[in-house]
Amino acid sequence: MKRDLLSIRDLTTEEIKRLIDDAITLKKRHKAQLPYFPLKGKVMGMLFEKPSTRTRVSFEAGMYQLGGSAIFMSPRETQLGRGETIEDTARVLSRYVDIMVLRVFSHDTLVKFATNSSIPVINGLSDLLHPCQVLADILTIYEKLGKMEGFKLVFVGDGNNMANSWINLATRLDIEVIVSCPEGYEPDSDIVNKALEEGAKVSIGHEPSKDVEGADVIYTDVWCSMGQEEEREERLRDFAPFQVNASLMEKAPNAIFMHCLPAHRGEEVTDDVIDGERSVVWDEAENRLHIQKAIILFLLGINL
Ligand code: CP
Ligand code: NVA
Repeated sequence: MKRDLLSIRDLTTEEIKRLIDDAITLKKRHKAQLPYFPLKGKVMGMLFEKPSTRTRVSFEAGMYQLGGSAIFMSPRETQLGRGETIEDTARVLSRYVDIMVLRVFSHDTLVKFATNSSIPVINGLSDLLHPCQVLADILTIYEKLGKMEGFKLVFVGDGNNMANSWINLATRLDIEVIVSCPEGYEPDSDIVNKALEEGAKVSIGHEPSKDVEGADVIYTDVWCSMGQEEEREERLRDFAPFQVNASLMEKAPNAIFMHCLPAHRGEEVTDDVIDGERSVVWDEAENRLHIQKAIILFLLGINL
């Protein structure tokens, strides 16, 4: 049966650990410039309803570096823009390409695509989830802290797709995740409830300077995600007390700083923090490349 990666919950704990191991091996091979072309003749289709820098380029570069190729599409350039259904598009593209990455507004679009296609489908971000990003993040944390479990991550800001994905990850790895957000901006309640039922160490707070105490990782993301542009003014007001700045970082003296990027400097994070010594955001962004390769090979059933 084909495998998809729509959510972290599609993976077992062992599979997540294997992906991290594989990404480390692939990263070493890449740095040593060792030729490795297991994807010769394989094609990735990429359908993106929203902009992207990291996700698009890391998947595309990853395919080429492994000997395959990629075709990037936006709805405008396909018949989707003229009313062809996502189900019919999935049926047809399955016959041309070997694997798909989609970036969508509604998570339901991804589910429909995956249900109607015979090839593996990867979530390259939906309004609900961003699983590939947290996999790159856990790789980065492993490199920086020397462990991928037994740490405390405080997500400061919006209970959005990134926060939801961290909560999902806490159902698979033994980590403590606190989402520190303004009231009314909590993560998805179904995702939180499921995690709590499963005994995950997940909680919600509303006082960032208290919530970050004892954190090993302080994580943030934009206050206004793609598609929320109309709420911008209101959000800037509501999130102002949740900025990750020097005084918040002082409350967690041992924490590293992470951000999925793109950053809105001066909003959710100040320049001194993102450019500071405790920031690992550039290694985090680089790791998107290495983990994407591990994800592709895993879903295509190719062992390293
Ligand atoms: N972090 C991330 O997914 O970045 P892009 O929006 O640039 O792909
Ligand atoms: N929450 C952000 C993540 C960008 C990678 C968004 O959805 O726009």
